[in-house]
Amino acid sequence: MSDSKSVKLVDESNGRSSELPLLTGTIGPACIDIAPLYKDTGHFTYDPGFGSTASTKSAITYIDGDQGVLMYRGYPIEQLAEKSSFLEVSYLLLNGELPNKSQFATFENDITHHTMIHESLKRFFEGFHHDAHPMAMLAASVASLSAFYHDDLDVDNAEDRKLAAIRLIAKMPTIAAACYRYSVDWPFRYPRNNLEYVDRFLHMMFEVPSEPLTLSPVAAKALDLLFILHADHEQNASTSTVRLVGSTGANPYASIAAGITALWGPAHGGANEAVLKMLEEIGTPDKVETAVKRAKDKNDNFRLMGFGHRVYKNFDPRAKIIREMCHKVLAELGVNDPLLDVAMKLEEAALKDDYFVERKLYPNVDFYSGIIYKALGIPTEMFTVMFAIARTAGWIAHWIEQHETPGSRIGRPRQLYVGSDKRDYTPMDKR
Ligand code: CMC
Repeated sequence: MSDSKSVKLVDESNGRSSELPLLTGTIGPACIDIAPLYKDTGHFTYDPGFGSTASTKSAITYIDGDQGVLMYRGYPIEQLAEKSSFLEVSYLLLNGELPNKSQFATFENDITHHTMIHESLKRFFEGFHHDAHPMAMLAASVASLSAFYHDDLDVDNAEDRKLAAIRLIAKMPTIAAACYRYSVDWPFRYPRNNLEYVDRFLHMMFEVPSEPLTLSPVAAKALDLLFILHADHEQNASTSTVRLVGSTGANPYASIAAGITALWGPAHGGANEAVLKMLEEIGTPDKVETAVKRAKDKNDNFRLMGFGHRVYKNFDPRAKIIREMCHKVLAELGVNDPLLDVAMKLEEAALKDDYFVERKLYPNVDFYSGIIYKALGIPTEMFTVMFAIARTAGWIAHWIEQHETPGSRIGRPRQLYVGSDKRDYTPMDKR
């Protein structure tokens, strides 16, 4: 990586200029380092939505949006999806390398032995109304982990950071399942440490006292694959939120709780829930045309949920894998979901429509994931929670990378002020 090139920026109105270093990474576009700009010219840069702004250097995940490439630590997502497991991918994201046999055994053992949550955290749920959204309960419960582990956590200590990562990856499925069971008024299930990560989660979700649960290997495989695909996605809104909160020195539980709330929005992780609701609202393939018309109408705020991406302008490589898996899983589970017909018709109609073609709007990862979750018996309101379980691995890897980067500063953007100029206070009886 050479940082020797530069870009010169001249303000022609006053002749002030700035020589800005050009930073090159391993692959991907070079970045103009604008840090000296304000000192040299007195100007800020303006980039709402951060379309042209790299907020950090990172060695975790690489995306090429034009080519539809996604790699974790250099490994293509297609290879990881085919050959790896969610826990191995979590290790890779956290440590930078794939584990050997004994490293993986230690990691799996550590995760397995931190799956329990305190009984007092379980009682915390009783404060929620019965119909609370699981994402609200998840965010609050994860934030509350700070109260359990705050005193013995030093964010500047590498061992403490590692322990926090293990705790979060281990406890997230336990908390997620508790959110679901509280909403259906079922007794909570303790994590079964003789089961693997995904099976353990399915057991905590679906086991009822009245009959034994038979775990489906097809369901477990599908869920593990979805977790791999959702594990990280570089500086997306929720990861950037985790980093911004982390930059203040806040503890990892508070940082990740903030990431969960950012994920919840329908433009981000909440899209999987929104896709299913949209497909249900469309109802039948013959109503697809009307839906596409509405999505193009600028006077109608209806959008095709599960379509479009800030970075992918060719195709979302995760969507390609999920689409294939969706058909396979439904066939293997013997599920005949008419919503799949609606989804396929919608995809076909949008892909040949000029509006979507010109704007490079393709199905994203969330377009098909909801149909798979539904086939696995996961209720719609839990879809974004599923995304959060997986993304926890990425969030905490970024939080750790941020703390390991020398010279990290608090994130503090500037603004273009467009409010009133200075004016004098008028007493209330004179207004
Ligand atoms: N349906 C209809 N029109 C759309 C859509 C859509 N889903 N997405 C973008 N557009 C239009 C938009 O109206 C704009 O049109 P115009 O140029 O005429 O003003 C143009 O396409 C560019 O859109 P944008 O909103 O400027 O793009 P963005 O990069 O800011 O937003 C997005 C990206 C994902 C938020 C957006 O495409 C969207 O809202 N999609 C639906 C929600 C969704 O599926 N989100 C999940 C993202 S993938 C999971 C994750 O990683 O979070």
